[in-house]
Amino acid sequence: MTFIDLAKKRYSCRHYLKKEVEESKLVQILEAARIAPSAANRQPWIFLVIRDPEIRRMMHSTYKRDWFTNAPVIVVACAENKQAWVRNSDSKNHADVDVSIAVDHMTLAATDLGLASCWICAFDPVLCHELLELPDHLVPVALLPIGYPGDSADVDRHNRQRKPFEEVVFWERYP
Ligand SMILES: Cc1cc2nc3c(=O)[nH]c(=O)nc-3n(C[C@H](O)[C@H](O)[C@H](O)COP(=O)(O)O)c2cc1C
Repeated sequence: MTFIDLAKKRYSCRHYLKKEVEESKLVQILEAARIAPSAANRQPWIFLVIRDPEIRRMMHSTYKRDWFTNAPVIVVACAENKQAWVRNSDSKNHADVDVSIAVDHMTLAATDLGLASCWICAFDPVLCHELLELPDHLVPVALLPIGYPGDSADVDRHNRQRKPFEEVVFWERYP
């Protein structure tokens, strides 16, 4: 599969099969996150892998969708803000940018392995932090359920529509 085919194949899956994900595949997905680029190579991240059904059930209160906790694996992608590179000119902390790149690596790696995922940011990060008893220096940025897809990209065609190329790409000058 070419890279562009892989990128087009990835979609946000909201229905997972009740089938465990092989640990070897999970390790490959997490390795894709580990090798992601980050500003000044600070790698300001921690990936907490939740497979325990009891903990997944508990996480439902942080994002109240049944399909979310039905996924056999949830990766909690956390930022370590103090470790991240900060731009001098405007003091922008790049932890969220870095963690997002790593999460995207995971979504693509999962797709490559025949798995599916869905980036979740509409969860309650404070509750999540509390429930998982995370230390103060970690901030959950994204939740990533991963599993074998029980649907296909076609079910959510509307969500997958993209703006036309000419509307978003400009050469030399904007507009
Ligand atoms: C940063 C980010 C946050 C997202 N948060 C959620 C979310 O909280 N819940 C959800 O169901 N989908 C979420 N999504 C998935 C988007 O809705 C989805 O990527 C978009 O509709 C395009 O569809 P596709 O991923 O199938 O191509 C999120 C995606 C991104 C990149």
